[in-house]
Amino acid sequence: MKQYNVGILGATGMVGQRFATLLAEHPWFNVKVLAASPRSAGKTYREAVGSRWAMTVPMPEKLADMIVRDLNADMDSIVADVDFVFCAVDMKKDEIRALEERYAKAECPVISNNSAHRFTPDVPMVVPEINPEHLEIIAAQRARLGTKRGFIAVKSNCSIQSYVPALHPLKEKFGLTKVLACTYQAISGAGKTFETWPEMVDNLIPFIGGEEEKSEQEPLKVWGTIENGEIVKAQTPSITTQCLRVPVSDGHTAAVFVSFEKKPTKEEILQLWEEFKGEPQKLELPSAPKQFIHYFTEDNRPQARLDRNLEGGMAVSVGRLREDTQYDYKFVCLSHNTLRGAAGGGVLLAELLAAKGYFD
Ligand SMILES: NC(=O)c1ccc[n+]([C@@H]2O[C@H](COP(=O)([O-])OP(=O)(O)OC[C@H]3O[C@@H](n4cnc5c(N)ncnc54)[C@H](OP(=O)(O)O)[C@@H]3O)[C@@H](O)[C@H]2O)c1
Repeated sequence: MKQYNVGILGATGMVGQRFATLLAEHPWFNVKVLAASPRSAGKTYREAVGSRWAMTVPMPEKLADMIVRDLNADMDSIVADVDFVFCAVDMKKDEIRALEERYAKAECPVISNNSAHRFTPDVPMVVPEINPEHLEIIAAQRARLGTKRGFIAVKSNCSIQSYVPALHPLKEKFGLTKVLACTYQAISGAGKTFETWPEMVDNLIPFIGGEEEKSEQEPLKVWGTIENGEIVKAQTPSITTQCLRVPVSDGHTAAVFVSFEKKPTKEEILQLWEEFKGEPQKLELPSAPKQFIHYFTEDNRPQARLDRNLEGGMAVSVGRLREDTQYDYKFVCLSHNTLRGAAGGGVLLAELLAAKGYFD
């Protein structure tokens, strides 16, 4: 496989640190640039991150002494040194939209973890196992931006990565009419640890700004169709959510209730989960889990601490499938929010794009 030089915009942040950890030994991608705000620029990566390193593994030695660049002021030199960038920054939405478009217009593809462009109609929001066909919209986006190579592709919010994968194969075969999902989201989703957010120890906060809207709307774009150079959102299912912050370091859990156009048997559901394979599995992408959906028969699984790291944190765990009195079925899902839900999902998307020639 061809090798690509890559940059990480927002390398010093929580998601950026995950990217650095995942990419340091990547078989296709070679980290050439680490970039962040002017506060970090000019320092070594080790100095810029300082006590903020939040990963359980040490900072990769080969990146620790790289000099961090300013992602705005140094854009021209960054673009000259890389084939594409990953982007995960904490800035105002309009600033992120403008930043990502500037890189794309400079012919540098952007794989974004930010929400700013998720509803731009010609920007694909892709979960590689679910809607890889949405990458075809990139041709229309390039025409709008006036670019030959440059484009923006985004991954979805971390909250939906636990339940949309489990719902997808069921939707294909039996049709979904309504979904209710309550999410129990880890503190790393807010870029925090228990050290930096001690108020979360022995606590629960029943509000995460903007999260319920994302959790209800983003699945409809992921399940949307391409029409006249835009991705048009699916009309069904009707989705309602409640999103809670819970005292868990990593791993978002979702309690899901679902009704179907044609109610399947429990065995049919389990079989669909067992057999579900997407493009990443067929293409054997380096970060793809071999088994995307793992079903646990034990009543007390999946558990965040036990199951979030399954298949490198890239698999989705499901359990407790049973019939419900108000909906057809209910079950519980778990996915690692900063791996599958953030940086790992971004790396997998980049692998899919590389395998399909979008960086050439
Ligand atoms: N945490 C998650 O699980 C998760 C999941 C999915 C998506 N996301 C999204 O990913 C993005 C980053 O989240 P995070 O948790 O990694 O945030 P974070 O830990 O606060 O990191 C923010 C990064 O942005 C940089 N930055 C902040 N202000 C900047 C500015 N004015 N100019 C240039 N760079 C600036 C910071 O650089 P300095 O260090 O130099 O300040 C740092 O590298 C957000 O859009 C978030 O919504 C997060």
